[in-house]
Amino acid sequence: MSVLSGKNILLGVTAGIAAYKTTYLVRLFIKAGAQVRIVMTPASKDFVTPLILSTLSKNPVHSTFYDKEDENELWNNHVELGLWADLMLIAPATANTLSKMANGTSDNLLLATYLSAKCPVYFAPAMDLDMYKHPSTKESIDKLQSFGNINIPVGSGELASGLIGEGRMAEPEDIITFLEADIASKLPLKGKKVLITAGPTYEAIDPVRFIGNHSSGKMGFELAKTAANLGAKVVLITGVSNEKIDHSFVERIDVISAQEMYESVHGNFKNADIAILSAAVADFKPKSIAANKIKKKEATLSIELEKTKDILASLGALKTTQFLVGFALETNNELANAIGKLKRKNLDMIVLNSLQDKGAGFKKVTNKVTIIDKSEKISEFGLKSKTLVSQDIFNEILDRM
Ligand code: CTP
Repeated sequence: MSVLSGKNILLGVTAGIAAYKTTYLVRLFIKAGAQVRIVMTPASKDFVTPLILSTLSKNPVHSTFYDKEDENELWNNHVELGLWADLMLIAPATANTLSKMANGTSDNLLLATYLSAKCPVYFAPAMDLDMYKHPSTKESIDKLQSFGNINIPVGSGELASGLIGEGRMAEPEDIITFLEADIASKLPLKGKKVLITAGPTYEAIDPVRFIGNHSSGKMGFELAKTAANLGAKVVLITGVSNEKIDHSFVERIDVISAQEMYESVHGNFKNADIAILSAAVADFKPKSIAANKIKKKEATLSIELEKTKDILASLGALKTTQFLVGFALETNNELANAIGKLKRKNLDMIVLNSLQDKGAGFKKVTNKVTIIDKSEKISEFGLKSKTLVSQDIFNEILDRM
């Protein structure tokens, strides 16, 4: 999955021949899973039509502060566009637009949006070789870089003028590669290893039966996705779950029993920087597993259970530099029980779910958590999707690492 997936990308198109290549660029953004909105300078509409770009981006394209043909004459809010964007890309960026950006001119919607944007801004220059070589262009590019804007280097080759040299806009595929690499290099968990457990464990009674629980694994899978999107290499050790994950940074290991989960977790803990144990591990398992299917001869059946190994507590006893996070699912005395677990298992943080809260718990897409750290600082969160809960959990971890 691309780091551009789910990102809001604001594309600014200016009046260069390379504007025709933005049709392909928009396709690549959409394929990567991004949302795209487009602002054009009025003159750029001579090079590529707003109709093509709005069709490809599935969003209206704006080039003026209000749309004259639109009977409602709605104001195109450059501040709102700037706030919506996770990143702004100006491609192609002509010498004229680069100079205006460098000098704070805002005589069109694109420039006003650029000045209001709080997100990272990238620009892909495109012009003839002598314009590109001119000291004023160099000065604009240097000035924009000093503002923190990011230059996507031009290519070299045949230009629209027929001359050969530097000044070609980077090819759409190269722009995507550049953006992905730049974003990935700045991700907060880049270079970190994260270990996550998820789902239920099944404890065999006989060859066909087991003791299990209602955990779906959703919370753990969301945590794995979030960690990978933040740049971490993730090992996800899961009990039986229907959840799917498709991310090149996530290695999924399927296990069934608490003992298998224990062994797999211990095989992966030493190298981990963060371990989050969200699995619903069985606390007890049958003392012996019947070799054959148990027949219903008697009116009652007793199965003797013994404790499983507490995986989380065993990591708490072992941990050196790892940041260790546990989960607590409680029905009463929630805070006191969670703090007790945090201390007993030597955790850095515990995520408390209460079954008293509507919308929280097994098989739900939402969750409501309270996060407690080892200094007993308590942070309460509202009911939200498990995706957003997983982001809250990582925000809390990153604040403390
Ligand atoms: N856990 C674990 N191994 C076990 C049992 C639990 O790693 N054998 C982990 C869970 O993944 C979770 C945390 O411990 O992160 C809390 O589990 P829970 O069953 O609620 O707590 P217990 O300590 O078992 O206490 P109790 O059953 O008394 O609530």
